[in-house]
Order: sequence, then structure tokens, then C-alpha cells
Amino acid sequence: MKLFKQLKLALAALFLLTALSGCTEQLNDWEQVSPKEKIVIKFSHVVSEDTPKGLAAKRFADLVNHRTGGRVEVQVFPNSTLYRDGEEIQALLSGAVQIIAPSTSKLGDMFPRWQIFDMPYAFESFADINRSMEGKIGSSLYEDLEKGGIQPLAFWYNGFKQITSRERPIIHPNDFKDLRFRIMINSAILEEQFSRLGAIPVKMQFNEVYQALSSSAIDGQENTTSNIVSQKFYETQPYLTVSNHGFLGYSVITSQDFWSELPPDVRNIIQETMKEVSLWEMEQASIINNRDMEKLRNSGKIEIHVQTPVEREEWKNALKSVDKKLIEIAGPDLAGEIINKTGQ
Ligand code: SIN
Repeated sequence: MKLFKQLKLALAALFLLTALSGCTEQLNDWEQVSPKEKIVIKFSHVVSEDTPKGLAAKRFADLVNHRTGGRVEVQVFPNSTLYRDGEEIQALLSGAVQIIAPSTSKLGDMFPRWQIFDMPYAFESFADINRSMEGKIGSSLYEDLEKGGIQPLAFWYNGFKQITSRERPIIHPNDFKDLRFRIMINSAILEEQFSRLGAIPVKMQFNEVYQALSSSAIDGQENTTSNIVSQKFYETQPYLTVSNHGFLGYSVITSQDFWSELPPDVRNIIQETMKEVSLWEMEQASIINNRDMEKLRNSGKIEIHVQTPVEREEWKNALKSVDKKLIEIAGPDLAGEIINKTGQ
């Protein structure tokens, strides 16, 4: 009889536990969140999903959706499907999207000092950039965003840029002469970089580059291998120079208006998740760019020249005077930090 009583008690406890865990499941089931309670965050970007930014955006969305039990739904729109270069910031400020991650160059018209990242040979490694973003340089840049109604969420990395071309291999500065190179919109520094090399810079939105390369409207471009592979630029560009002459990274941002309206617990989950995903993204950026360099090597479609240290010095010398442009744009203090850092 005593044994029977104990068995009944154990069953009751088991029943209670199952019921409680059922409740937790229900809370985490986002189908149960009413449309009125749901916060939708549209995250728009311009690159393919299989890139550092594309994968990180997806990971961030999945984690936030899961961690908020469906109360927040982050929807990712890759490949310029929602907004293209040049449209994204206005869309953010007007509330049409809630998160974007433009390359730092594309912030250049509203926030000119972000063009420091376009400065050739300014940064040696991700660790170098990370140090700068955590110090005086980062705080000046974030201050600019905040004054413009933008809430910075994270800094993401893609990698160092390489040169691709159609006409001839680009080994020495002279090889650039009179060739038309696509540059990212909004960057006077990139314009200056290609002008100093004797090329003709052509500002163009990212989603138009493949077509422009295919139709020979432009002769070449600069990008990371993850963008060169995922956008299939190599199909019409027979030459690539591994020059690592410039950096491509992203400022992940939202608007202060949207941010201030979020409940504090949601803000907290977004911030913590963004921190975690950013560390993962930085690791993935190197892995993906190395993987894509291997894909290019194995494709048999592109001749790859790895720049020698002597050639690197030639390019650096040809680009020395870009620092005047940097001073004009970023002001002597911030420009000085970059110029001193590189010893130019
Ligand atoms: C990106 O990585 O977001 C695009 C870069 C480019 O416009 O070349």
C-alpha cells in the first residue's frame, strides 16, 4: 500500500513537470505570439547569403527569433532585394527597414569620416582594425553616427580587397593606366586612389557590377574574394592580383527612433546576440575569403598574381598623396591617427 502511495506521488510529480515544460514550450512557440505583440525587424543588405555578412545576418535573425520566443521576427533581405546601395540609409531613417549593414564607404556621403577605411594600406590586419575601433578612432566615428540619428549595433568584417581586370594583369601602378575601375558609391578616397594610379574610377551600385563587367562597360574592380566569387565577377575577369591594398567592412546600424521604442529586454537580447554573432562573423570572414580564394584557384578561369613586397612598395608610393584627400575629408586629427599609424 505504501509502495502504491509513493508511486502515485511520483506520477503526480512527473505530470506536474510535464505540464510545466509544456508551458515553457508554449512560450517559446512563436506561432503563439499574437501579431499585435510581434516586433518585425527587416534587415536589408546587398550581398549574397553565402558571404560573411550574409551568413551573419541569417545567424543573427535565427538566434533573435529563437531567443525572444517569436516575439521578435528578424526578416533578412539579401542581394539588394529590398533596397540597393544608396537607398538603404534613407530606408532606415524613414523606418522602412530596421537594420542595415552598409560597407563603411557607403556611409561616406552622410558621415564622411567613415571613409578612413577606404584609405589604401591603412590597416594591416583584423586585429589592427579591431584595436582602432575600440580606441579613439572608433569613438569618433560612432559619435558621428549618433549625431545623425543612427544607433550603431556592431562592426562586421569582410576582408582585404583584391584587384580583378579584363585587359591585362595589374602588376605595377602603370598597368592601371586608362582602365575603368568600378568603385563603391560615396567614397572620394576610392576615387582618389584609382585616379592616383592613372585609372578612371566609375562609381557604381553593387548590384550593377556583374552586368557592367560582362558588357565591358568597366574594365575591372576591387573586392574581397567572397564578393568576387559569390557575384561571379571572375567569369569575365581573367586576371586577379592579390594586393590586399584596402579593407572592406560594415557598420551594422539601426535608427535611434526605432531603437528607443524597443522594450528594454528586447534591446538587451539584440545587443547580446549581436555581440556573439559579431565574434563569429569575424572568424567566418577569414575562413570564407580563404575558401573562396581556393575556389578561384581551382576554377581555372582566372590567372592569379600574388603581389611581391617590392610591388607592394611601388603601389604604396604611387598612393602616398591620397593622404592629402584624407586630411581634407576626415580633418587633421582623425586623418593624423591613420597616417601616423601607417607611417606614411
Ligand atoms: C558589400 O560587401 O556590401 C558590397 C561591397 C561593394 O559594393 O563592392
